[in-house]
Amino acid sequence: MPNKIEVEIEERKKTYPIYMDTDSIEDLKSRIINDFNLKKYLVVISEKVYKLYGKKLNFKSDEIFILKDGEIQKNFKNYQRIIQCCEKKGLNRKSALIAVGGGVVGDITGFAASTYMRGITFIQVPTTLLACVDSSVGGKVAIDTDFGKNLVGAFYQPSAVYINLNFLNTLDEIQFKSGLAEVVKYAFIEKSCEARFDFGLFDFLSVHCAKILDRDLRFLEKVIKVCIELKIAVVTKDEKESGLRKILNFGHTYGHALEKLTNYKMFTHGEAVAYGLHFIFNYAHKTKLIDANYKELATVLLHKFGFYDKTFKFSTQKLIQTMLKDKKAEDNIIKVIVPIMKGYVKESDLDIDVALLNNV
Ligand code: GLY
Repeated sequence: MPNKIEVEIEERKKTYPIYMDTDSIEDLKSRIINDFNLKKYLVVISEKVYKLYGKKLNFKSDEIFILKDGEIQKNFKNYQRIIQCCEKKGLNRKSALIAVGGGVVGDITGFAASTYMRGITFIQVPTTLLACVDSSVGGKVAIDTDFGKNLVGAFYQPSAVYINLNFLNTLDEIQFKSGLAEVVKYAFIEKSCEARFDFGLFDFLSVHCAKILDRDLRFLEKVIKVCIELKIAVVTKDEKESGLRKILNFGHTYGHALEKLTNYKMFTHGEAVAYGLHFIFNYAHKTKLIDANYKELATVLLHKFGFYDKTFKFSTQKLIQTMLKDKKAEDNIIKVIVPIMKGYVKESDLDIDVALLNNV
């Protein structure tokens, strides 16, 4: 089932392939090395993935840097350790950094690749659903600081993305759900992505929810492909988030605040985004941006995928205070992406008074 999608970033005149298949994981190493004719490289791999697939991937112990799991690992110390490892191995401008894991591994490895020797080849092997549909595509790379998430980073496109769907078989339920939240997000923004085709993701997800939750690869493959196509449609037009790309943050302003208030310990990124989606649909209905019918359709879809099973005790006021500290807020104005019609969103200033009436 080989699949190849080309990403063309207009601003950079750079093109890179995203491969998607269910080939043997054992072949991945030789494939990457041959495709890039690599002599020296460092593989940054998630600890979980290493435990499950280390043998199959067959990288030598001196070729890998094992990164513990969790957002907390995306820090300056680990960035420094990766760079030191590159130096010790004598990586040069023709070398590559290869990320094998989820969003955390991809982000920190990409940031290291973007800065080591002013930029070396960066290859992504996403192993979580979230990384497949979102973080491995589009070139956002970063580390977190004490002041917030992704505060030090760059836009640095990978040279290739290798998606092997077999990794998804062993993904734990929590991480799988986290990825699904991003998938559902794409259904809400699909039309605004201005892609070449109308994929009808909203209806596809509604009809095939059970198969997707069962991880039926035929359905997952389709869903991942559509999400990638939508993401590409956006990032090729606006790599640096000066306009259109902001729509990818649908549900994220509230979601990021929730993650931050709970020190990234209580919610996965996707779970927090799902609560953010819930919040913004309530808000949009209260402000008459959408009618009751669309709000109901969206709520049913979100419930079908089984989000919102945690109770938390933050008031909307506290969340709004945190949103005001977000790097995207300016002069006490919180910019949010709001739904306006099925599949369509736009940017708007959050009406804080209305939002406060909207306790989730
Ligand atoms: N994850 C949002 C973006 O790539 O812009």
